[in-house]
Amino acid sequence: MEHFLDIADHSPEELQDILDLGSRLKKEYFAKGNPGLFKGKVLGMIFQKPSLRTRVSFDMAMRHMGGDALYLSPNEIGLGKRESIADVARVLSGYVQAMMARVFEHAHVLELAKWSSVPVINGLSDLSHPCQAMADALTIEEKFGITKGLNVVFVGDGNNVAVSLMQIAVKLGWNFSIASPEGYDMPTGIIEKNRKVAAGTGSKLAFLRDPHQAVKNAQVIYTDTWTSMGQEEETAKREAVFPPYQVNTKLVDEADKDVIVMHCLPAHRNHELTDDVADGLHSVIFPQAHNRLHAQKAILARLFGVA
Ligand code: CP
Ligand code: NVA
Repeated sequence: MEHFLDIADHSPEELQDILDLGSRLKKEYFAKGNPGLFKGKVLGMIFQKPSLRTRVSFDMAMRHMGGDALYLSPNEIGLGKRESIADVARVLSGYVQAMMARVFEHAHVLELAKWSSVPVINGLSDLSHPCQAMADALTIEEKFGITKGLNVVFVGDGNNVAVSLMQIAVKLGWNFSIASPEGYDMPTGIIEKNRKVAAGTGSKLAFLRDPHQAVKNAQVIYTDTWTSMGQEEETAKREAVFPPYQVNTKLVDEADKDVIVMHCLPAHRNHELTDDVADGLHSVIFPQAHNRLHAQKAILARLFGVA
């Protein structure tokens, strides 16, 4: 595996292998700690936006495995501003063994990968959040075991997190539905590409407006913020449109009785997700966040060619 930029770039077998490894590394971590497989390896972490989970879980993943991580703030790097992305990539390639980047424009992480001679990981772009999807899949597999044919429903904005969830759904043969308001759909090109993948793996895809229709028979309900990082000037407009898409007790009660509720976090409580649901019996939001650590250890291990 050369880079980890998008779920769509990887085969179902490759993704399942990473998930299985993540699960194995998780068990090992709790039994006796992870071995020093990343000894001598440093991950450079470029952030153009804030982060709690991505920053800390990648840093700790490297440390647990005997390596190290370097946080590079927006002000220090000035990706594409202080210095061209191509130059940043070529300079950093001489210092670190892999890079993770959280960027505004997806094209920027692709540009880093184009010029880097070490693996590059997409730590969230405007288009996708593949590391989140891997942790989500690990969490879903832990809850349900065999997941082919599982009904996964995203309620809300057709954003980066929704795109990566759909991409992993079609790769792994889950059924995926999304209910989003008009004007907040996923990009058409991405939908069409995923329809083709779904046809091969047997996933059923549905793009709906009505969240109540979407959650019928849902075994997973997933939501995310109504306003992603970089869209702050649209906050008021979005706050007016999205309330019917709130994941609350009434909506959860319309799903399968054993439904799990997921959110990539940070959550805007009592906006897209009510407190009673976030802290209720169906919620897996904290184990899901913790699984970032284990899934990312596996992604890193495959990129480093160890384990
Ligand atoms: N879910 C997620 O990526 O969280 P952070 O923005 O805190 O990294
Ligand atoms: N959709 C959110 C995810 C944050 C992890 C954003 O891009 O801000």
